[in-house]
Formats: sequence, structure tokens, C-alpha cells
Amino acid sequence: MPIIRAALFDLDGVLVDTAKYHYLAWKRLADELGFTFSPEHNERLKGVSRMRSLEILLEVGNLGGLPADERETLAAKKNAWYVQMLGTLTQADVLPGARETLQSLRARGIRTALGSASKNAPLILEKLGIAPLLDAIVDGNSAHRAKPDPQVFTLGAQALGLPAAACAVFEDAVAGIEAAHRGGMVAVGVGAAEKLPQADYHVPGLYALDIDAMLAHFAAGEGRTQ
Ligand code: BG6
Ligand code: MG
Repeated sequence: MPIIRAALFDLDGVLVDTAKYHYLAWKRLADELGFTFSPEHNERLKGVSRMRSLEILLEVGNLGGLPADERETLAAKKNAWYVQMLGTLTQADVLPGARETLQSLRARGIRTALGSASKNAPLILEKLGIAPLLDAIVDGNSAHRAKPDPQVFTLGAQALGLPAAACAVFEDAVAGIEAAHRGGMVAVGVGAAEKLPQADYHVPGLYALDIDAMLAHFAAGEGRTQ
């Protein structure tokens, strides 16, 4: 019967729609390397670290055996394109309902944290202006084990001084839902429910989140469905 006292948020695809820029930058790299990288392939990269994303991309292009220094160069190239695209990001790019959700949760005494694999999280948060709405920030610079490892969320709970059982994770990626569960937390799937069948609660986007209904759902013991 979890009483939720903290909400841990993934960044890309939950608070901001940067997933499209990640895709465009990876696709540009694939184009340059001479193979097709489709939106379906891209689904596999969501929530996954930069280097693991590159490995998956290279597998798609049958280029799996590249040496480490070449892989570093390719990842740096993709990141430079991605960071260039982030240059156009403004406060208007916060996804609908995200800012209001953070504010409403805090108004109820529920603490908030970021749990993102991205090393670009500080830059993105600064552009969006939402860092002041987060009580703790854990990202790819402070956590080094990629989702589905729970590290990013476990560190968030620790930073807030709360047990895993009091935390709900908001995620748009399969790897992130699994990370929440491995960390002993309930998971709210943000996006199409059929893409996140393992989530314990679903919302199409934060604009549609009814916080009371969600808290009641978890308080009634309808937490882990798996
Ligand atoms: C995650 C994204 O939030 O961050 C992944 O869902 C991305 O697609 C990962 O690969 C790492 O991001 P970055 O900004 O450090 O390359
Ligand atoms: Mg995400």
C-alpha cells in the first residue's frame, strides 16, 4: 500500500520533447554512414545512454565491430549536432502539463526529482527554466549505470531522503519502467499505454494526470502490477 511522497521524472519524452532531436541527430549519423535508421529503430534508443544508443545504431547498420576510439568520435559528432538543435529550445518547449504537475505535486508536499540518463540535462533544464521545481537532480553526469539499471532513481530517492517504496517514477521508455521496478518503485507510464505494458498506471501525457486519482490508485495497493 504505497503512500507516494516523491515523484521522480525522466526528462526526454516526459518533461520535454527532445526525443525528436535525438532521432534527427542519430539519423544524420546513420545517413552519413550509409544506412537507414527508422523511427521504429529509434524506439530502442529511448532512455538508453549515449554510448549504448550508438552501439544499437551501429548494430542496425551492421557496423558492430568498430574500435572504441571511432565509436567515441561518432558519439561526439552526434552530440554536437544534438546540442546545436537544443540551441532553439525555450521555456515553451516544456511538454503540456509538465510545469503544472511539478508545481501541484510540491504544493501537496510531494517532493520532486529528475532521473535522466542525459549528460545534457543541466543545459536542457536551464533552457526550460524548470530546475527550481526539482528538489533533486540526478542525470548522466552523476549516475553511470544506464537504465534499466535503477541507479538513477535510487540516487534520486537517496537525495530526497525517502525510501524507494515512497517513490513513483514517471517514464516514457520501457527501459525506464524496468529501472523503476528494479529499484522497488512504482512506475507511471507516460505515453501510449500499449507501448508501456509494464507500467502500474498510465497517462497519455502529464497534461492528463489527475494527481488525486493516481495517489488513490497507489494508496489502494494497486501498485506493482508485475
Ligand atoms: C535519455 C534519452 O534521456 O538520454 C536517450 O531518452 C539518450 O535517447 C540519453 O540517449 C542520453 O542523452 P545524452 O543527452 O547524454 O546524449
Ligand atoms: Mg524518456
